[in-house]
Amino acid sequence: MRALPTTDPRSLMRQADIHCAFCNGAYNQLGSTNKLQVHFSWLFLPWHRWYLYFHERILAHLIGDPKFSLVYWNWDNQANVGGNIMPAMFNQQGSALYDAKRNQNHLPPVLNTLALSDLGNTNLTNEQIIQDNLNVMYQSVVTASTPDLFMGKKYSAGDPEPNIGGTLENAPHTAIHAWTGSDKETYLEDMGNFYSAARDPIFYAHHSNVDRLWAVWNTIGGRRRDHTDPDFLNAQFLFYDECGDMVRVRVEDALDNSKLGVSYLKVNGDKLWLNFEP
Ligand code: C2O
Repeated sequence: MRALPTTDPRSLMRQADIHCAFCNGAYNQLGSTNKLQVHFSWLFLPWHRWYLYFHERILAHLIGDPKFSLVYWNWDNQANVGGNIMPAMFNQQGSALYDAKRNQNHLPPVLNTLALSDLGNTNLTNEQIIQDNLNVMYQSVVTASTPDLFMGKKYSAGDPEPNIGGTLENAPHTAIHAWTGSDKETYLEDMGNFYSAARDPIFYAHHSNVDRLWAVWNTIGGRRRDHTDPDFLNAQFLFYDECGDMVRVRVEDALDNSKLGVSYLKVNGDKLWLNFEP
């Protein structure tokens, strides 16, 4: 992906530009002067699921291994090393997974921070960070007991840019972006800004965990069910497939992971926050 010329939509740079195109006010909505934005609303989870789906297919195609799958960074798991750190595989200079534009104060063994209010606070003990992280996970996935709360609210064609994102997006997801991006760059590049975030290969491992947590939320029960509004189900996006051809997909077809060939193991780390009593 890194080696492909940027004229190829499957190159890493163009993959990152696809993310940029669906936010940052890059395009107007069809027939409207309002901008297209896939963050801060109910489009967030399905758009990123489709994005990962094609990214994974492209990688599998490029290396000739149909069984290739993206990894996820289990940043919610607070038992990893007594807290959670950036996975070592992303932190090896010279590796295709390495990105120099990351916060150098947040490299291993520094614990990640899921609480936006803890970002930049250097006086916290590891124990406090872990407790705050567990609390953020509990609030964002368990307490968020409706699709409006967890997935984000309604955003339909013609609406102005939304600001009604769900808990998973607003809290731990955004915190990991801001925590990973470089504080030496003007706009927290790469991970800390929409236009550059997906230039960092860790973006895809980060979002794979977001996607996994959506699937976990679906299993908790109660009113934790996906939106059923036709404006949600029928929303459509354009992506490039593994041959570089543009394809149109619908939100409804992203809701059943088994149809996309995606499944996640049940893992013990989830229990720590699922059972956390705030
Ligand atoms: Cu499109 Cu993590 O943002």
